[in-house]
Amino acid sequence: MSGPDPVTGHYARGGIAQTLLAAVRAELPEGETLGVAHLAPVDEFHIGGIEATRRFVPMLGLQEGMQVLDIGSGIGGTARFISQETGAQVTGIDLTPEFVAAAADLSAATGSGGRTRFVCAGALDLPFGDAGFDGAVTLHVAMNIADKAALYREAARVLRPGAVLGIYDVLAGPGAGAFVFPVPWAASRETSWLATPETTRSLLDAAGFAIVHEEDRHAPAMASLARMAARSGPQRPGLHLLIGEGYAERIAGLAANLAAHRCAPWEFVCVRR
Ligand SMILES: C[S@@+](CC[C@H](N)C(=O)[O-])C[C@H]1O[C@@H](n2cnc3c(N)ncnc32)[C@H](O)[C@@H]1O
Repeated sequence: MSGPDPVTGHYARGGIAQTLLAAVRAELPEGETLGVAHLAPVDEFHIGGIEATRRFVPMLGLQEGMQVLDIGSGIGGTARFISQETGAQVTGIDLTPEFVAAAADLSAATGSGGRTRFVCAGALDLPFGDAGFDGAVTLHVAMNIADKAALYREAARVLRPGAVLGIYDVLAGPGAGAFVFPVPWAASRETSWLATPETTRSLLDAAGFAIVHEEDRHAPAMASLARMAARSGPQRPGLHLLIGEGYAERIAGLAANLAAHRCAPWEFVCVRR
């Protein structure tokens, strides 16, 4: 018999939406209604947070009426941002049931329930037919997935020809030395698989994608981590509320690996051929 999935075991926690909503509502100015933007400090679970999302999403040309898939949507911050900014309908899939439930609750709490939906599913076996999406994004997910050829093949299958795939993921860097654990996405190397930019390019090509933009975001990541350290703390809503126990060690691990350039966040914008 197989044990609990080590990836979802790493992320899962109970009462996520309630914890985050309580913290964010406590800071809400009198008379203001909770909106998508208020959740940004706690629901964008990737390096650079909302600033990275705000920079990346406009590169993708997503528009009102499009069907967009967020692969590994976490608690739904990026999906809500996309639907609010572009008018697209966004479907998020994620392996961690607690994240999927929290994503739906947070969308309902911010009035985004009609434009976003969340399904518990694995990225390697998407529960959708062929060519049904006009665009897809995946932010900080591939590092949890060993079989990236299957990940990109599945993304290509559900996208129509000409559709965009936006990837913002953590790749392997040129730095020497042993990778430090824990990091925000893994407690050990058991669930961490970083591909190099070269490997990623060739996997994307083999899956049927043409890369139209790519950028190494290592330097901005270093700066954003420094800003996060200065801003975050038990007194302010932040990712520490989502990550919970071990937050400081996981961020310290990431900072050490980034400083030694053992990893780097990287953007790719691709078009399904
Ligand atoms: C670091 S979080 C990023 C979440 C979200 N994309 C964001 O940027 O806020 C990584 C997410 O990937 C999900 N994940 C990991 N492996 C997955 C897989 N094989 N299929 C679907 N989701 C997966 C995890 O459950 C987790 O929610």
